[in-house]
Amino acid sequence: MTTAAPVNEWWRTAVFYQIYPRSFADANGDGMGDLPGITSRLEHLKDLGIDALWLSPFYRSPQRDAGYDVEDYCDVDPLFGTLADADALIAGAHRLGMRIIVDIVPNHTSDQHRWFKEAIAAEPGSPARARYIFRDGRGANGELPPNNWESVFGGPAWTREVRPDGTPGQWFLHLFDATQPDLDWSNETVKADFDDVLRFWLERGVDGFRVDVAHGLVKEEGLPDFVPSESGGSMGGDEDAPTPYFGQEGVHDVWRRWRHVVEEYGPERILAAEAWINPLTRMAKWVRHDEMHQAFNFAFLSAPWDAAELRDVITDSLAAFGGVGAPSTWVLSNHDVVRHATRLALTFENPQGHGIGPLSPGMPIPDLGLARARAATLLMLALPGSAYLYQGEELGLPEHVFIPDDARQDPTWFRTGGERYGRDGCRVPIPWEKDAPAYGFNSTGKTWLPQPDDWAGFARDVQVASADSTLALYKQALAHRAEYGLGGGELVWIDGAEGVVAFDNGRVRVVANVSGADAAIEGHVIAASGPLTAEGRVPANTTVWLHRPAHH
Ligand code: NOJ
Repeated sequence: MTTAAPVNEWWRTAVFYQIYPRSFADANGDGMGDLPGITSRLEHLKDLGIDALWLSPFYRSPQRDAGYDVEDYCDVDPLFGTLADADALIAGAHRLGMRIIVDIVPNHTSDQHRWFKEAIAAEPGSPARARYIFRDGRGANGELPPNNWESVFGGPAWTREVRPDGTPGQWFLHLFDATQPDLDWSNETVKADFDDVLRFWLERGVDGFRVDVAHGLVKEEGLPDFVPSESGGSMGGDEDAPTPYFGQEGVHDVWRRWRHVVEEYGPERILAAEAWINPLTRMAKWVRHDEMHQAFNFAFLSAPWDAAELRDVITDSLAAFGGVGAPSTWVLSNHDVVRHATRLALTFENPQGHGIGPLSPGMPIPDLGLARARAATLLMLALPGSAYLYQGEELGLPEHVFIPDDARQDPTWFRTGGERYGRDGCRVPIPWEKDAPAYGFNSTGKTWLPQPDDWAGFARDVQVASADSTLALYKQALAHRAEYGLGGGELVWIDGAEGVVAFDNGRVRVVANVSGADAAIEGHVIAASGPLTAEGRVPANTTVWLHRPAHH
């Protein structure tokens, strides 16, 4: 038996599709995707079978971190359109029965935000400065940063201001780029201002927010030095214990406050946390009943292509999130990680955020990567809970590895002097039409990041026409997922052979042969990520869904 979630808890089982506005569709042909481009292609997403959209930031921004550096939270950047375009997009999604959540970036603003400009113009100790984290430097003349924290993008997390007379002044904290100063969330004005930002978008009809760096915001009293643990760090930190800047207890008060704000608009508006926190039992704190509704499952995303590890992370996810009454989420790709059609076949260590490029220590193996990606997705979409897809993965897009150095945009690349490639390779404008300029991303052929020469075969129009395309697989899986109620179902493990992950979810049996010997199956195959053997067995790197007879 499976039970559908109550309507107002739509998010418990929803499949979200992440739109990265810069790279989805470009209506005005300037090389940068835009909101009218998205609105004009919503039918494709409806047709794919997703329930909701998440949009990465489209707010007014100098675009130093692709829009995660916000200059005005209540306006649309002219690059992407206007507020009227945002309204049209929200209405268009709703008309087609799709919910829409937007990104919100509360840990930091752009240095071009009015608040920061006021802060820089004001004196140390002033209320304007108190919105941010300004401190005097250490050393005889304040020439050393206030502590040893490092930016997630590389280099120090502090920058020293230059006063109008040219002399150095205080330092300000930025856990990301120097153009992204961190706000001080112990400041009441900051809290009140963000309540207003939330209401601004809730009034415009969004169904909720994806909350950027939801493990940040609150810093440890006194800003003590960071003492590294053995696991080191990644985007946001992998540590099992709080660092002085990530995972501080106080952050949960912010989410309780935000929960109240979204609930002013009824029970159907949601908060989804981007919280890079380990282990899952700790991350589950973000989705306690009075905090957020869901959190991205980065443990699942980070799992290697290994049956035992996959089984463990699935078990741990269901236990950890279930333990606080929240659904698990599942995700394999987003705009910050190497696309899973490439990542799952990498032959070398590649920490999140480092990216890959021409000089990486090994090249991806495309066919193997795609086979694994399709198998991983089919496994993921059978799991109970909510799932997140990233634009282009339904086309089986690989990472773009050969972006020329001078075309790179990610601040990570600049802040590490090219030592880390960063995240551009997963952000390339997606292909719609095989024979059109920029593969149909626009009509001019201009693109803010270069597209690979060999993407014609990935174009949507090619895949629509082919029954065994990756697009067809996604559509089929999403249709069956809805039909069989898998999102609201219950997972029951069954014994799989070595290298095989197998479970039942209601009337569907899932057999994911990760790396085992060809696996025998019984039952009617309703979806398969790749060809079976001549004997009808499931080879490695392949997942199948089987229809089980109903129980009496
Ligand atoms: C997480 C976002 O997903 C990423 O793209 C961004 O660079 C950082 N947060 C900083 O806002």
